[in-house]
Amino acid sequence: METSLRLEVRFKSSLLASPHMDKVNLQQKLSLFSDHWNPRIVGELNGQHVKVVKFQGEFVWHDHKDEDEMFLVVRGGFRMDFRDRSVELREGEFLIVPKGVEHRPVAEKEVEVVLFEPAQIKHTGDVVTDVTRFEWERI
Ligand code: NI
Repeated sequence: METSLRLEVRFKSSLLASPHMDKVNLQQKLSLFSDHWNPRIVGELNGQHVKVVKFQGEFVWHDHKDEDEMFLVVRGGFRMDFRDRSVELREGEFLIVPKGVEHRPVAEKEVEVVLFEPAQIKHTGDVVTDVTRFEWERI
C-alpha cells in the first residue's frame, strides 16, 4: 500500500513536471509572431525540435552536413530549390531534405511551415548571412 502510494505520487509529479503533456495548437503558436525566417521551438522529442516558421522570398543556399530536415506546409505554399530540380509544396504536404543536400526555400507569398530537425542543427548550415539565427526562441 505504501509502495503503490509512493509510486502514484511519483507518477503524478512527473506528469506535472513534463512540458510535453499539453497539446500544441499550430495556429495559436503562429499567431504569436510575424517576422520571417525566424523559427520558434514549439516542441522537443528524442533530441529533435519541432519548430514553426513563417517566410517569404528567397532564402540562402545551404546544406546541413549531418542532419535531415523536414518541412511541412501548414498554410500557403513554397518551392524548394535543389541544384538539379525544384519541388513545389502545398498546404498539407511535406518534404524531407536529406543531410548534405544543398537546398533553398523560395516563397512568392508568405507561407507557414513546421520544421522537424535535430536540436543541434545550424540554421543555414556552414553559410552565415544576415538571416542566420544562432538561438531559437521557445513559444
Ligand atoms: Ni536547411
